[in-house]
Amino acid sequence: MTNKYIYFIANWKMYGDLKSVNTLDKVIKFSKSNKNNKFKLIYCPPYTLLSSFSSKLKKTNIEVGAQNCHEHETYGPFTGSVNSKMLRDVGANFIIIGHSENRDQGETNLLINKKIKDALKNKLKIIFCIGETLYERKNKKTHKILANQILLGLKNIKKISNVFIAYEPVWSIGTGLVPDSSDLLNNINFIKSFIRSRFKYKSPKVLYGGSVNPKNINDLKDINDIDGFLIGGASQDSKKFIDIVKKTFI
Ligand code: 13P
Repeated sequence: MTNKYIYFIANWKMYGDLKSVNTLDKVIKFSKSNKNNKFKLIYCPPYTLLSSFSSKLKKTNIEVGAQNCHEHETYGPFTGSVNSKMLRDVGANFIIIGHSENRDQGETNLLINKKIKDALKNKLKIIFCIGETLYERKNKKTHKILANQILLGLKNIKKISNVFIAYEPVWSIGTGLVPDSSDLLNNINFIKSFIRSRFKYKSPKVLYGGSVNPKNINDLKDINDIDGFLIGGASQDSKKFIDIVKKTFI
């Protein structure tokens, strides 16, 4: 994996407190000292830390993203929610939408589509998560599921250059399991060619997510069609996160 720009996106999920901001020091130092400009680091902390992360990362080239949003475009009576405009306001440039942990809580393709449209209007770049369950995989439904999630999630969206697809097989999230290389390559290629044919967009970016760690990155990095990684658990440990980046380019 040497010839292109690779994205490393840290999804902190519901982890982290104000003190965790200090763990960024190591990563900032690494990013500043690294002359290899072939990668981009993006942190997606919980809502409560967005502001602190944005301030801390202000003078660096590390960017900040949110993990979800409410679909309503303007202010409104939605207790406990924030919309993409509010996220932009506290420094988010990216947003994860459609994560399987949210789909699991009842987030539908229709809602996901509304959120993506609104976030795009607010100039956020989208990390749009798709992926099959183990049951769907066993029943050889993977491509059908991925196609359906893409078609519904991106319905009526004309310009998809700011949408990154994160392929996250549900069965690989937090389990230590990753698809074997040929399977993964096959699914990544399927997603890319599907996007190319349906959206007439030549260069879709497809990331992989699910149990990425400093060990398995050695195999994952050789899959040339992957444009980056969405990393959960391992991204909360700065050393592991840096190791993943370093090993990708060895
Ligand atoms: P893990 O890396 O902890 O498996 O999580 C993956 C994920 O859900 C990233 O969005």
